[in-house]
Amino acid sequence: MNMVDLIMKKRNGEVLSQAEINFFITEYVQDRIPDYQAAALLMAIWFRGMDKRETGELTVAMTDSGDKIDLSAIHGIKVDKHSTGGVGDKTTLIIVPIVAACGVPVAKLSGRSLGHTGGTIDKLESIPGISTSLTIDDFIRQVQEIGLALAGQTANLAPADKKLYALRDVTATVDQLSLIASSIMSKKLASGADKIVLDVKTGSGAFMKTVDEAVELAKAMVDIADHAGKETIALVTDMDRPLGRMIGNSLEVEEALAVLRGEGPVDLIEVCNLLAANMLYLAGQGSLSECADLAKEAVSSGRALEKFALMIAAQGGDADYIRGHKQLERAGKVHDITAPISGYIHYVETDDLGKAAGLLGAARLQKDTEIDHQSGIILHKTLGDYVVQGEPLVSLLYNKTNSLDEACNLALYAFEIKESPAEPRPVLLARVTANSIER
Ligand code: URA
Repeated sequence: MNMVDLIMKKRNGEVLSQAEINFFITEYVQDRIPDYQAAALLMAIWFRGMDKRETGELTVAMTDSGDKIDLSAIHGIKVDKHSTGGVGDKTTLIIVPIVAACGVPVAKLSGRSLGHTGGTIDKLESIPGISTSLTIDDFIRQVQEIGLALAGQTANLAPADKKLYALRDVTATVDQLSLIASSIMSKKLASGADKIVLDVKTGSGAFMKTVDEAVELAKAMVDIADHAGKETIALVTDMDRPLGRMIGNSLEVEEALAVLRGEGPVDLIEVCNLLAANMLYLAGQGSLSECADLAKEAVSSGRALEKFALMIAAQGGDADYIRGHKQLERAGKVHDITAPISGYIHYVETDDLGKAAGLLGAARLQKDTEIDHQSGIILHKTLGDYVVQGEPLVSLLYNKTNSLDEACNLALYAFEIKESPAEPRPVLLARVTANSIER
């Protein structure tokens, strides 16, 4: 078997066999296939696609390329959650304590990000003192003791995906359905949970720009999980606006805490309630509507906030920030962008707001650069809102940036304002299970 034949086969639109897929993954992980050949195959896959069998076999090969976490020592059904990524997405910080406060253990591994804003672990690290690098033994022990843990990936999970993702990122091959599905699901399958809830984002701030594309990705991932014996539900949710009103690491923690206190923006509350309810449902806690009530009660009683405080303290962080005795600091400099005309906001180029936040310091634009946890964007208006000329649309918060002008331009032109009212867009656009697609 050799790579030239594999590349040629895929280039010509043929399907790859399981042996060929396994050969590619095992040899590539061991550095026996050069990046230029792997890149050529990825580009052929980008153009020709992969069928369901190939996608499933690619996922299994990537899952098997590294460690698999065994969570069986934790009593109960463990449900994992994954979002395909979006701007202002702080849902994990909110859902993990809600679900744990309902008595369902959550052992959640999350990532950092090279994208426009930080990943969940970057956000969590805005809290002074917190440690996110737990050993697997400590991670499991913490879940046994207090019911939840949220940590970075220390284990060697799906190393094939890590290597391939880095290559996809620089060869314009990230946005391909089979490659995204296998990348996400290989990490989920290696993480050891019994069941999974996926949040597939769609809109101007997501990989999948249309609902149809997002449903197709959701179905592909649910099918992969089903094949692996892990019941999975995917929700397709709106990313045609940033989620909530805050973008940036400590700002997003601030907003997550507001939701856990029973405050916060309605779109964020709704997505979190839906995701938490579906996780509780998979864990056998009742019907979907009963689970939605359980999730709401965990917040209104204050139990979810207290669970979060316990987790932060267990991981060395200062829980006074969670219990409201101390406030996270915001960046010192503020620049407001005002509305050029009066009217309704019809469109938000969400991706550009994410990029603007990154330029202010909220993202790691290169692999080893530091994040400024305090910087980011506060939205005063969002999709559908009415704005008066001269009113602030967004505030840009930063400590130090060489790209303020670029960030300002991105933020200003991100909003399309028209005279007529905008059509409301629901937060939940579809729900996909192994046997159903509800829109
Ligand atoms: N997130 C991942 O982990 N992989 C992808 O390919 C896209 C989003």
